[in-house]
Amino acid sequence: MGLQTRINSAVEAAIRIGQGGTPPAKLKDALHYACTPGGARIRPTILMSVAMACSDDSPKMADAAAAALELIHCASLVHDDLPCFDDADIRRGKPSVHRAYSEPLAVLTGDSLIILAFEVLAMAAEHSPDRAVRLIRTLTRQSGMPHGICAGQGWESEAKIDLSAYHKSKTGALFIAATQMGAIAAGQDEEPWFELGARIGEAFQVADDLRDALYDAETLGKPAGQDEVHGRPNAVLALGIDGATKRLKDILGGAIASIPSCPGEAKLAEMVRLQSEAIMPVVKARSTKVI
Ligand code: IPE
Ligand code: IPE
Ligand code: MG
Ligand code: MG
Repeated sequence: MGLQTRINSAVEAAIRIGQGGTPPAKLKDALHYACTPGGARIRPTILMSVAMACSDDSPKMADAAAAALELIHCASLVHDDLPCFDDADIRRGKPSVHRAYSEPLAVLTGDSLIILAFEVLAMAAEHSPDRAVRLIRTLTRQSGMPHGICAGQGWESEAKIDLSAYHKSKTGALFIAATQMGAIAAGQDEEPWFELGARIGEAFQVADDLRDALYDAETLGKPAGQDEVHGRPNAVLALGIDGATKRLKDILGGAIASIPSCPGEAKLAEMVRLQSEAIMPVVKARSTKVI
């Protein structure tokens, strides 16, 4: 089974848990709508790649971890698109959840997905209670306060935003969760995997800021130019396009060097290189646009 198929199956299985019995029909549908078809699934791809680099001795644990991480990510997007945050009408090329289903259902969809993520990890305790508790601990840390997504989104309500703290919490946190949860799922110490996740996460947000400034909504599948519209601090505003592009390359350059030694180190380095290339076309798009 290919990696994307494995990830999508794990996500679908998790959603089915939240849809069991005879729950309210619209909310049941909205859970699926919010998560499928997915976007790039980059976080679970990184998580699975780290687990496999560490021998993936408990594949069901890695499946649960990957699904839980992607559910939290999808929930964060549903809430992020709400009128009280970014008021975005499209996500992944289709109407955002509140546009398709209503605001109350979008709030409940995000809430349900967050709770489902931790239920999936709690259920995985049957394979290894110790790993399940460590996965829950890591995912809570990177999702809530004071370091996680909640903190990141919370910065937007402050008069003065610390760009680095904002990016680290808003985006970096789930990439740190990705590398660390991959290691935990395979029974390894998570600590050495912090730096790789932090580097990929920082690069990803700089790339997203560049895309937001340079691409149109059709290409992005979500509204463009949002940082400027909402007056949000971002890497393009802070460093300019060339500065942000250079910063992106610098961070990615260090990412491969930060991979901890593990049985599948070479293959993992190749995956990081490929993911880096995937976010790099930003730079090419800019040169075609400017010339
Ligand atoms: C979007 O993340 C939100 C950010 C943190 C910038 P992705 O670009 O990974 O979204 P999908 O899952 O591929 O749609
Ligand atoms: C979203 O950040 C990060 C989350 C915590 C959901 P953005 O608002 O910058 O991302 P997009 O552009 O909507 O995907
Ligand atoms: Mg936002
Ligand atoms: Mg947004």
